[in-house]
Amino acid sequence: MSMPDKEAKHWGGVARGWSDKGYANELLGEQKRKTYIDLITRWTRITPRQKILKTDLFAEAFSVEQFLFDAIPAKSAVIGIDVAFEIVAAAKSQAQNRGMDAGGYLCCDVKKLPLRDSSIDLIISDSTLDHFPTEAEIITALKELGRVLTDGGTLILTIDNKSNLTYPPYFIIRLWMKLGLSPYLIGRTLSLPRLRRALAEIGLNVEENTAILHYPHPDGLVRWLERSLRYLSRGRLDNAIRKGLACLNRLEGSKIKYLTGRYVAIKAVKRGAS
Ligand SMILES: C[S@@+](CC[C@H](N)C(=O)[O-])C[C@H]1O[C@@H](n2cnc3c(N)ncnc32)[C@H](O)[C@@H]1O
Repeated sequence: MSMPDKEAKHWGGVARGWSDKGYANELLGEQKRKTYIDLITRWTRITPRQKILKTDLFAEAFSVEQFLFDAIPAKSAVIGIDVAFEIVAAAKSQAQNRGMDAGGYLCCDVKKLPLRDSSIDLIISDSTLDHFPTEAEIITALKELGRVLTDGGTLILTIDNKSNLTYPPYFIIRLWMKLGLSPYLIGRTLSLPRLRRALAEIGLNVEENTAILHYPHPDGLVRWLERSLRYLSRGRLDNAIRKGLACLNRLEGSKIKYLTGRYVAIKAVKRGAS
């Protein structure tokens, strides 16, 4: 089986089992949505003529964490891609329910995009590239994103933060997955300096970087804790949990943000050919 087929099979299986397994984390999802909308609003101004690419559709398919439908005007030209057909189909139907245009949703591999060179003005890649088993695949995907971006176009990218104090060596992550403690493949990631170098090499200038969503990696324990507290308190603790999460988000303004952030986030702009 080829690599894209293996990936599609894995993620298709995850999609089929997702809603039954009770993974929904409404409050974490709400916080994630707000954080991404804030990041996109701070780092870019979306205009109706822009062509936008989003590099996976998991959140749009399973709706709790989605931010695309809220951050992007309904009639924008959005190309949403995902390697799993099931996820593309579910995201399409969620988009249509919200009156969004899902005509540009495609099933394909982010490492081999069926898009022309320099055809996309804005790419939003939220923790897609940290689901590959090798760093080489992350670099391949970054090159592909650089290829399709117009000169002057913007990439907003988040990936797992290797500097997070709880980020374990990869063999522990592998063990974690083997024990069935993660519902899907957790991949490799790049440190912020390595990411900046890789982007510079493909002609993308990093204009902004930060760390977002301040909790441990892997986040299984945080997700379990949120669900348990909500279940045991029958929702009575929801506001307290919201406040706690908002407090944690304030760490983005602190000096230790790269020690606590779950993801690093960067804004990079493609240099013109001249
Ligand atoms: C765990 S989800 C990430 C969800 C979300 N972006 C987030 O913030 O956590 C990973 C998503 O990436 C997609 N994906 C994995 N490999 C891919 C590839 N090579 N090309 C496109 N999408 C891919 C999966 O199908 C899945 O929808």
